[in-house]
Amino acid sequence: MAQLAVNVDHVATLRNARGINYPEPVTAAVAAETAGADGIVVHLREDRRHINERDVRLLRKIVQSKLILEMAATTEMLGIALDIKPDCVTLVPEKREELTTEGGLDLITHQNHVREAVATLKNAGIDVCIFIDPDLDQIKVAHKIDADMIEIHTGAFCDATTRVQKQREFFRIVDAAKIGTKLKLEVNAGHGICYNTIKAFKGLSEISEFSIGHSIIARAILTGMDQAVRDMKQLILAL
Ligand code: PXP
Repeated sequence: MAQLAVNVDHVATLRNARGINYPEPVTAAVAAETAGADGIVVHLREDRRHINERDVRLLRKIVQSKLILEMAATTEMLGIALDIKPDCVTLVPEKREELTTEGGLDLITHQNHVREAVATLKNAGIDVCIFIDPDLDQIKVAHKIDADMIEIHTGAFCDATTRVQKQREFFRIVDAAKIGTKLKLEVNAGHGICYNTIKAFKGLSEISEFSIGHSIIARAILTGMDQAVRDMKQLILAL
């Protein structure tokens, strides 16, 4: 059965919109865990637009399940990860001008640099996941550079507007999940998944974990964090 990792970045987005100290992402993380989240995810960005270092340090102390830190493979972020020691690091590409992570990490171009980052993190006992597009060549490189896991970028599927487009993008995810599993990589999926798009993953047992943020936090504003996480967990249980 697939697990649910809840991303609480957008609780910090709301807090930072006013430059004050609430809502508190740590409180949201505790509520998510209480409702059944199997992991808590935060993305520490270079520009600190939502989560900041203080949040990650507090979460490290408080999260009981598993703390997953999304970050770019920069010297600054590697230093922070080695110091805070999350359970898992997901390496992502990062552009200052993007609204959210726009694509997977291009391992064909950045292979040597990412390989070094993977080795550094693994030597410190941190599991390493790489966020990549559902592209077979990228997945082969993830395996070659010794990543523990891949997170397949599901954004193109979730954002597709026509049935044909949706189907094409979903088949890419299926192929990617199967090849990743064959290569003995743990396969996760995330980006843009909501309470509707999650249903498409029924029967795709290769996916070990879904990483979901925006849709859960958006629902939590209306129903509370507990209900929002339970609703998503229920849908995942039914896959
Ligand atoms: N996985 C990765 C690597 C991400 O960068 C994000 C967005 O922060 C997510 C999953 C969650 O995406 P969403 O907020 O659209 O659910």
